[in-house]
Amino acid sequence: MPASTPAKDLPRITARDGIGGAFAFKRDQLGFLAGGIERHGDLFRFRPFGIPMVMVNHPDHIRHILVDKGEQYDKDAAIFKVVRPVLRKGLIANADMDLWRRQRRMMAPHFTPRTVAAFARNMTDEAVAMLERWERRGHATGGERPTGGELLDVTDEIGQLALRIVNRSLFSADVGASAQAFERAFGVANSVLGAFFRFPFPPLGVPTPSHRRLHRAIADMDDFVSAFIRKRVAEDVPTGEETDLLTLLLHTVDEEDGKGMDLEQLHHEVLNICIGAYETTTNTLSWAFYLLARHPEAEERLHEEVDRVLAGRVPEFTDLPRLTYTRMVIDEALRIYSPAYQFMRRARQDDEIAGYRIPAGSNMLINSYFLHRHPEFWKDPERFDPENFTPERIAQRPKHAYIPFGSGHRICIGKHFALTELTLVLAAVARGHRLVMPEGAPEVRPEALITLHPKGGIHLRLERR
Ligand code: HEM
Repeated sequence: MPASTPAKDLPRITARDGIGGAFAFKRDQLGFLAGGIERHGDLFRFRPFGIPMVMVNHPDHIRHILVDKGEQYDKDAAIFKVVRPVLRKGLIANADMDLWRRQRRMMAPHFTPRTVAAFARNMTDEAVAMLERWERRGHATGGERPTGGELLDVTDEIGQLALRIVNRSLFSADVGASAQAFERAFGVANSVLGAFFRFPFPPLGVPTPSHRRLHRAIADMDDFVSAFIRKRVAEDVPTGEETDLLTLLLHTVDEEDGKGMDLEQLHHEVLNICIGAYETTTNTLSWAFYLLARHPEAEERLHEEVDRVLAGRVPEFTDLPRLTYTRMVIDEALRIYSPAYQFMRRARQDDEIAGYRIPAGSNMLINSYFLHRHPEFWKDPERFDPENFTPERIAQRPKHAYIPFGSGHRICIGKHFALTELTLVLAAVARGHRLVMPEGAPEVRPEALITLHPKGGIHLRLERR
């Protein structure tokens, strides 16, 4: 047998590349990574502020890390260390595999497609109530009452909608006006930690003005969650017909060790779900409205489908299989502006990918902003084209060329919830309204925080169709 070729060292961004070093990463993370891809391709290493990172931008290598060797790559990685002061022991950033497995096992039954179907009504009720609020506040123009509607802060409005939906569905909680306080607090955490990820100095324990703002924001998010957990604990609702996720988490015991969840863990899980569910769905819908406002031909096809399938009705869960173009619009918005655009795994032991050495301890950076624009798998990747998601085109691509919800055992637990919500809310709005670009409005750029956020938010005008 021929001796196998020894693994090579990964190409590394060096001063000679003209891409810049750690400070270029701090200044413009996306620009820095784009430079790295241009110079070195789909797999290269760099070391911002001494942290060993490996950029992974090929579907085969991403499948290797997330699926084929998923157990060898954990979440004890730089980006999860940065967000852990907020997310703590909850599912999203948990690196303790035994604890994670136990928690995921307990929570997964509440997130199956069948369970999610029961929440569809909440989703559309809340969307209809939002449209009524917009109408009452005089935002809508056209139709029978052509008033000069004020611009809608779409990101803020949809943020409140997303929080109401997730809290009502999973925790039977009416978060009312406190949704805005949560949004503000999350915005602070996203921006302070986004900057800290790019430049991790001084440590978060040092009370700089921005770190103090972060700690206040964490306390505000904790208060938001504690308010309804405290109420539920006091009520002591038994499990039964109307069991929601909160009651279940309070009462469930693990099938293997027979133990329940303590209140601290419960708090962290509820907060993780609020955070995991809120900004991601908000951004996807906001970008979807923005993209539709800029692409009238796609908007026309969406309206044609919604009119044909719904004939004026509010959408229902059973309409989903026929709302195919609506779903394609969502899938394409998730491609171009993937909200959870960067995540990481730490190599627990030495490995080899495509003939390159991956030393233990490497922080494997997966960035779907670039993956979803990879020229080998996407034609004209900057163009908004829902046709990218016809069954034929999907079949032509490797599965891991598109991973807005991640993949493998840590795949988003809320994927079905999110896709149901996004498709139903988009159809519910498109049924009677459209969101249009104000004249002369500048292009909205994505901002690379911990999540990919529309810089300055998305502001559109509401018209009745
Ligand atoms: C458009 C909407 C959403 C997007 C794009 C999204 C994206 C993601 C991604 C990429 C991950 C995996 C990260 C990794 O592998 O490191 C993830 C995990 C997670 N998401 Fe979502 N998510 C969305 C909606 C939701 C919703 C609605 C919920 C809850 C109701 C949720 C809760 C979670 C949780 C708890 C995890 C951690 C799962 C685990 O590690 O076991 N997400 N999400």
